[in-house]
Amino acid sequence: MPIYFDHNATTPLDPRVLDAMLPYLSGPYGNASSVHRYGRAARDAIEAARVQVAALAGAEASEVTFTSGATESNNLALKGLADGVPRAADAARILYGGTEHPAVLEAAEALRGQGWPVETIAVDRSGVIDWPAFEAQLAGGPVRLAALMLANNETGVIHDTARAAALVHARGGLLHVDAVQAAGKLAFDFGSSGADLMSLSAHKLYGPKGVGALLVKSHVGLATQLHGGGQERGLRGGTENLAAIVGFGAACALAAAEVEGRMARWTELKARLEAGLRRLPGITIFGDGVARLANTVQFGVEGWEGEALLMALDRKGIAVSSGSACASGTGEPSHVLLAMGWPRDIAFSAIRVSLGLASTEAEIDRFLIVLGELKMQVAA
Ligand SMILES: Cc1ncc(COP(=O)(O)O)c(C=O)c1O
Repeated sequence: MPIYFDHNATTPLDPRVLDAMLPYLSGPYGNASSVHRYGRAARDAIEAARVQVAALAGAEASEVTFTSGATESNNLALKGLADGVPRAADAARILYGGTEHPAVLEAAEALRGQGWPVETIAVDRSGVIDWPAFEAQLAGGPVRLAALMLANNETGVIHDTARAAALVHARGGLLHVDAVQAAGKLAFDFGSSGADLMSLSAHKLYGPKGVGALLVKSHVGLATQLHGGGQERGLRGGTENLAAIVGFGAACALAAAEVEGRMARWTELKARLEAGLRRLPGITIFGDGVARLANTVQFGVEGWEGEALLMALDRKGIAVSSGSACASGTGEPSHVLLAMGWPRDIAFSAIRVSLGLASTEAEIDRFLIVLGELKMQVAA
């Protein structure tokens, strides 16, 4: 049986989510903006899903804007906050964490191209924010926005975004939190988190691809980046993807009900995996000793290139990642590990295992055996 250990890249659709979606693919097909009964049925389904998404994130339903996924949510957050703000020479800065996903990083760099002062926030060797450096950076001038993810997609390292929010707010800035990898793997609360904006994506938590949300607190003025029919209270034009939104809601409801049990299960499996890895020579676990997601382990394997190891594992029927799925195949080492200060050769050797709902002890044992055999071949 093949083994899928790449759940941070994407998850399979939960059959219970599929069940919730199917009626909206074959049955009610109204446009949620129509006022007749077909439209009202679609609108009701979307609003029910909005409540489910809000409940998972500890948000108000009115704070949820549906998007096509977290790439769009992150772009809307950063560009929507920058749009229309005068860009004087001393304009407030945009800061983003050195280990952010490309959907934040590239959006911020696009704003740099438009003249915004953009800076990265340093992390230490474990992937944790370098707090003294961050405080000194914040003291260096006004801040419009800081973007920091709640949990990293490669290492699983969890950021103390509440601490960051207090520091950023004290400087008059806003905090955007990419919570894509945390949702369904970690309990959190948008309302009390200090975050002003937050991104979510359905396909990372057993929902469909191509749907996500941006949570926006009411005090945040955001300029739409998708002009059109004024859907999503004018923030995001375009006819809503009804079945996908229903599936997103269902996935969030399941995650909210099951998150504690999922975390407990992954914690056991991860302990087994890490104990096995520690018995192998030449393994470096990234983010070792700091708070990380229960389902994620990224490690370097001495003497291997991550991409080559990934392909060798794939030939044995085991699917892992050598970093983020988006960066794979670029021939470049993980920017996350480089930002953490790891040398290029170690960053090149990275493999990420991300466990899911169906992962088992037997799969972990098989993975460890295969990894050990592949390592021996290199040593020979
Ligand atoms: C942390 C993080 N942010 C954003 C995204 C992008 O999400 P989507 O695939 O919904 O555009 C991903 C997906 O890889 C991610 O891991």
